[in-house]
Amino acid sequence: MERRAPPMPVLLYIAALMAASCCSSSEAAAPKSSFEDNFDIMWSENHFTASEDKQIWYLSLDKDTGCGFQTKQKYRFGWFSMKIKLVGGDSAGVVTAYYMCTENGAGPERDELDFEFLGNRSGQPYLIQTNVYKNGTGNREMRHQLWFDPTEEYHTYSILWNNHQIVFFVDKVPIRVFKNNGEANNFFPNEKPMYLFSSIWNADEWATRGGIEKTDWKKSPFVSSYKDFSVDACQWEDPFPACVSTTTKNWWDQYDAWHLSDAQKKDFAWIQRNMVIYDYCKDSERFPTLPVECPLSPWE
Ligand SMILES: *[C@@H]1O[C@H](CO)[C@@H](O)[C@H](O)[C@H]1NC(C)=O
Ligand SMILES: *[C@@H]1O[C@H](CO)[C@@H](O)[C@H](O)[C@H]1NC(C)=O
Repeated sequence: MERRAPPMPVLLYIAALMAASCCSSSEAAAPKSSFEDNFDIMWSENHFTASEDKQIWYLSLDKDTGCGFQTKQKYRFGWFSMKIKLVGGDSAGVVTAYYMCTENGAGPERDELDFEFLGNRSGQPYLIQTNVYKNGTGNREMRHQLWFDPTEEYHTYSILWNNHQIVFFVDKVPIRVFKNNGEANNFFPNEKPMYLFSSIWNADEWATRGGIEKTDWKKSPFVSSYKDFSVDACQWEDPFPACVSTTTKNWWDQYDAWHLSDAQKKDFAWIQRNMVIYDYCKDSERFPTLPVECPLSPWE
């Protein structure tokens, strides 16, 4: 595998410039440090623990149950980021999901943006599956390999979401770009605000080698670790959104965030060449007529 220089954190650089040069007031949510400030536990509180200083959070899965948390706030558009260290050793069958969704549940009209980390047997590589749902319909899977072992250290997983594109980032490298065609028949979740979630669960019917590799419960509990959540986004206030329109203040909604920068395009091209395992837009057996968004260019 080709070795690569660490990519420039372009978006953060832009964010810093914008933050330095503007903003008398802002509807953007400021990052907060404690778990309780940002999140609620969705289920199995006893499978959640935190470090003594409360800066690192742990979700654990055993034979009884997994665990999950979600943000207290909903957002529509922004930048969402978390450092995650995945379950090490034998993690076959175990899925850590890190995603945004319009609701806490699998409702028939939900919008959703997913990162799913698919565990593996010891020494075998994790895969990242991403997916996009609109109004309850998904089937937009992509799978990527990683260029590092995600169980050894924390890495940053981020989502940029505006009305032009959704970009999935791994350590500031854009691994997937999902575009809005701006037309009435688009497949682009942009109307409903979303919460951010993470959870760990058993998915050994499908996750590892298509379900061949089963979870080895003798290795449980399986633990994923989190820190440094950051959100720079438009927080939603019911009944009417506080920040729906594009304003000059929100860098994630600005022209520069509507498409990849030149540096990001280089990284993305490298990912396209080397890391893509599966792309639904290339699966003409599954989709004799490709979904409407497939012809959209990620480069524009
Ligand atoms: C969303 O899906 C539901 C069915 O689950 C359908 O009744 C509704 O019309 C859809 N809404 C839009 C805006 O497409
Ligand atoms: C797990 O490892 C096997 C063998 O290297 C590989 O074929 C597979 O893609 C890996 N990941 C998953 C999620 O199955």
